[in-house]
Amino acid sequence: MKVTKAVFPVAGLGTRFLPATKASPKEMLTVVDKPLIQYAVEEAIEAGIKDLIFVTSTHKRAIEDHFDKNFELEYNLEQKNKLEMLEMVQNILPPDVNCAYVRQKEALGLGHAVLCAKPLVGNEPFAVLLADDLISNSDSGALSQMMKQYYYQKCGVIAVQEVPKKDTGSYGIVKTRADKSIEAIVEKPAPEKAPSTQAVVGRYILTPEIFSLLEQVGKGAGGEIQLTDAIARLIDSQRLIAYPFQGKRYDCGDKLGFLIANFELACKDKALGQSFAEYVSKAMSKQSQSN
Ligand code: G1P
Repeated sequence: MKVTKAVFPVAGLGTRFLPATKASPKEMLTVVDKPLIQYAVEEAIEAGIKDLIFVTSTHKRAIEDHFDKNFELEYNLEQKNKLEMLEMVQNILPPDVNCAYVRQKEALGLGHAVLCAKPLVGNEPFAVLLADDLISNSDSGALSQMMKQYYYQKCGVIAVQEVPKKDTGSYGIVKTRADKSIEAIVEKPAPEKAPSTQAVVGRYILTPEIFSLLEQVGKGAGGEIQLTDAIARLIDSQRLIAYPFQGKRYDCGDKLGFLIANFELACKDKALGQSFAEYVSKAMSKQSQSN
């Protein structure tokens, strides 16, 4: 069955970025010139997704506005003949892509957020994208690569990458068999308990059977309903594979990762890249002379 729906859990408080996130969603923080959520949405659209389902909470209106029409702005740009900008704001979403929003009323974790999307997803396979994980790739996006696997292997797919052993406590960790099927998955294990160093990155293609398992799992790590725990049950009855995608992942849920993403994507930017890189290299050599 075709995957045309993607769930974006965007209800988190973003406390690591306070005060920036006091009144605006963390998913609207910009990397170079685009909000984080737009990177994830573009990756989903490239992979063939047509229905974007955002699981939101209070103070997230800016996300809805960002993907909606802005008549006043468009009128203004048109009057001033700023047609390139007009085209850019009008084409944030292609005309055949729809948005739907559902509220997560309590902060009960990622698993609970995904469960909130159940009435909108229905009985279909779907993708989940966490905007905190920005994945840059010059060829095809991470979700596109996973879709290929999904259609070829006809099973759910979870993106993974190697992490240092000391960091296993920040991720879902998977143990795989030789054919990449997942044998075990644990949420945020301490390094000594981790079954491997293959960490789950925020891209999933799941089958709808996950929903009834999410309803059953109860609270797990951090007192939250964890998607990982439901996946751990799903693999008892279904094959799921771990997919080490091509591309660089930036952890934009963390200040340092967010700054690195801005730095690296600014260096690669067509318009800004060269001047920015020149500025940085001059600034660095000045700094090392003064040290
Ligand atoms: C979530 C998942 C975790 C995964 C991570 C990827 O954790 O629960 O399994 O490894 O995303 O970014 P969070 O970062 O929301 O704590």
